[in-house]
Amino acid sequence: MLITSESLLGPNPPTSAYLEAYRILRSEFLILQEHEESRIVLVTSPWHQEGKSTVVLNLGTMLALIEKDTIVLDTDFYGGGIGETLGISGSPGLTDLCLHDIAVAETVIETELSALRVVPAGTEADRGPELTEGASMGQALRKIGQQAQFVLCDSTPLSGFGATLALARMVDMVLLVSLAGSRVEDVQRCLASLKEAGARVGGIIVNDELPGESVVYRSYHEYHR
Ligand SMILES: Nc1ncnc2c1ncn2[C@@H]1O[C@H](COP(=O)(O)OP(=O)(O)OP(=O)(O)O)[C@@H](O)[C@H]1O
Ligand SMILES: [Mg+2]
Repeated sequence: MLITSESLLGPNPPTSAYLEAYRILRSEFLILQEHEESRIVLVTSPWHQEGKSTVVLNLGTMLALIEKDTIVLDTDFYGGGIGETLGISGSPGLTDLCLHDIAVAETVIETELSALRVVPAGTEADRGPELTEGASMGQALRKIGQQAQFVLCDSTPLSGFGATLALARMVDMVLLVSLAGSRVEDVQRCLASLKEAGARVGGIIVNDELPGESVVYRSYHEYHR
């Protein structure tokens, strides 16, 4: 199975503002990497439907367009992740790597962009939350991390999902997506719990939509802990 470019960078065709916003996000992301290399990056948010999966797919695509070898990984074990968007949620993936002695190559799905690959949550995604608390998840993440320059993990929100915080502690960096206009207190609460968990927060992506335009990421602020 090959994932086509059309399903990677929406909407179709993307407007120039849309692409430019993602170029900014890509630059900011690469600047962060100059300060401290973070290969495995978790993208999460305070609440549902704030744009996590969209950011993971589009940032992954933009990195791949400049030949940065990137894997987008579905760590949303509840079905709201990139696996569902791309129609690959039943395929072998992360949870299979945790549970069985298989190679990462057996879980990787190619896309039309040679530098972009996808690893689904796996056939036993429902066991993901429990697996996340064990050593096998960390080992599986490291194995995947050895296969690419960057691994971007799509996830569930921080509110109401224990696995997200557990994953945040395992990765090199966390990016928080927040829908423009949402409560500052919610973002602050998430930052506090990430800090308490010892996670490194690289930045906050404020996801907004311009009137008459498509998906636009209005700003991206480096967050200094
Ligand atoms: N800036 C935006 N403007 C308009 N629509 C957007 C924007 N960002 C994302 N969307 C759309 O909003 C919906 C939710 O986005 P997405 O699935 O990326 O969020 P999510 O945080 O991953 O959700 P979930 O918590 O359910 O996993 C999708 O239909 C997506 O296409
Ligand atoms: Mg999602």
